[in-house]
Amino acid sequence: MHDGDMTTALMEWYARARRDLPWRRTHDPYAIWVSETMLQQTRVDTAIPYFLRFMERFPHIRSLAHAHEDDVLALWAGLGYYARARALHRAAQYVSAQHQGVVPADYAQFAALPGVGAYTAGAVMSIAYGLPYAAIDANVLRVCARIHAIEDDITRTKTKQYIAQLQRALLPPHDAGTFNQAMMELGALICTARSPQCGACPVRSYCRAHAHGRTGDIPYKKAKKNPRSERRCAIVCIREDDGRILMRQRGASGLLSRMWELPHVSLEHEEEPMPWSIDGAINPQWQEHVGIARLTHGTALAMFVHRFTHRIWQMDVVVRHAVVHRDAPSPYAWVDEQQRASLAVAALFDRIVASVRADHRV
Ligand code: ADE
Repeated sequence: MHDGDMTTALMEWYARARRDLPWRRTHDPYAIWVSETMLQQTRVDTAIPYFLRFMERFPHIRSLAHAHEDDVLALWAGLGYYARARALHRAAQYVSAQHQGVVPADYAQFAALPGVGAYTAGAVMSIAYGLPYAAIDANVLRVCARIHAIEDDITRTKTKQYIAQLQRALLPPHDAGTFNQAMMELGALICTARSPQCGACPVRSYCRAHAHGRTGDIPYKKAKKNPRSERRCAIVCIREDDGRILMRQRGASGLLSRMWELPHVSLEHEEEPMPWSIDGAINPQWQEHVGIARLTHGTALAMFVHRFTHRIWQMDVVVRHAVVHRDAPSPYAWVDEQQRASLAVAALFDRIVASVRADHRV
């Protein structure tokens, strides 16, 4: 194979076919870093509005470094994988303090920052600074596995390392960023997981999987274990006097840490007595604890399902209207619509509250 020819064919195609994306209109290393962080577990279409809002609010590293973590999370709410946002925030503080607010143009220094793995480091160093590093995400893994007809499990570290080595050999020394983006773009637009458009592929003549009729079987991935599913029950307490809804902030560690949520319990391993039950009965102790004098009418709502990487929550929802006699203690708070929009509300609970508001017109 003539690697140089393949790289040229790919780059020419990219120059013609590339999508006009907001992070491709800038050379600002910080903006590119933000975009690559968002794009790690999020689709391009989903990421665009989040990226634009984030850059408007935090246009440079120092503005992000000085922000309150809750405000950073609020702008991230809905994207999921919130550890990314926290790490980016901490990294911005470090760059602001130790590198005069300038993203280091050095792979090792950049890769040492919180949340920056090999993919992000390769992507930002190559796209922002033109340095010759590969950026290998799931799209690129798939494209490479097909081009080289690699039949091994691409989720294995050894296979990934082998692909990284092949990919480094293809990097054009002066334009690695464009090359990396061209590979990603090929994976996103042509060499897709389920139905690759080989007829439109600029590097089809270099592709061994295509030559051997193996594009349907490559890449091979060992099946993932099914995520564990857990039944939970959330309660939506709506204040009779002003329609505010009772929410609470999660603790500082673990899943969805410091995000806002509806009060909810596991139906599988919560201690007795439960604070409320799926039929809407409320434990008087919990009711007193949050300052509710009396509960009036209630309804049940459909079940909501949310998938995390390793678990699924199946959330039954109970709705009760409440008369309140004193304010709710921390970490609880009665939240109105305006506040909800400015808090980091975990996506599942945001969906539930929006649905309750639509049903009850509150
Ligand atoms: N996915 C990850 N990085 C990307 C980029 N720079 N452009 C498009 N999709 C991407």
